[in-house]
Amino acid sequence: MRSILIAGNWKMNGGPKEAETLLKELKEKLTNRNLTTDVVVCPPYVSLQKAVTVLSNTSVKVGAQNVHFEDNGAFTGEVSTRMLKETGCEYVILGHSERRENFGDTDDVIAKKVRKAIADGLQVIFCVGEKLEERKAGNHQKVVMDQIRAVIDQLTEEDVAQLTIAYEPVWAIGTGETATPEQAQEMHLFIRNFLKEHWSTQRLEGVRILYGGSMKPGNAEELLRQTDVDGGLIGGASLDAGSFSSIIDIAEKV
Ligand code: PGA
Repeated sequence: MRSILIAGNWKMNGGPKEAETLLKELKEKLTNRNLTTDVVVCPPYVSLQKAVTVLSNTSVKVGAQNVHFEDNGAFTGEVSTRMLKETGCEYVILGHSERRENFGDTDDVIAKKVRKAIADGLQVIFCVGEKLEERKAGNHQKVVMDQIRAVIDQLTEEDVAQLTIAYEPVWAIGTGETATPEQAQEMHLFIRNFLKEHWSTQRLEGVRILYGGSMKPGNAEELLRQTDVDGGLIGGASLDAGSFSSIIDIAEKV
């Protein structure tokens, strides 16, 4: 049985001060709760340390939004897996469409990053998703399958234990437009079946597939109720402690 994972992708929002305020508020809302839902927050690099400190005696984990695939060296502006681990990070988001679109994260680069992060003991939230024109042309399944294949071809069956996939249709990210529960379920099932074709391992039963793209308290329940939706990767709504904790509450009851 897969437990639900609710992850907040803060994107380029929340410096250390803001992170402290937001996370203290979240912590207060989650006090004395014995959560069955796994919760992760992914602030910008500069706020990771603060997040780890504020959340130190809670079950909420901290993740980064990117990482480089080398350990150290002449890579100006980059951060390594070891640095993240030293900071207390346990998760990393990789392959987000904003990084694919704006920062040269090709399938090949993402595959290297995922492999490195898993090898160094991080939990990876690996994002895939089609653009609007790809969906309109009926190519959404092929696009997502190619994105997944490029990465899982580089992984072993054991790596599966550290892999979470986030299906995020690009047309639903930050637009207020959400995939319908039926569209989400169809894609999640497609992804799960594709993984099963690739790997035979029992461990696949534990691989979580999150939905991302304008998930908020108003639509979280119908999405999270879908059989193959195992959680959410939440952008905008994760920046408000009330909305984020409401989504966690919904996850607890579905
Ligand atoms: P959104 O972002 O919830 O603001 O649409 C989701 C994401 O990009 O991970």
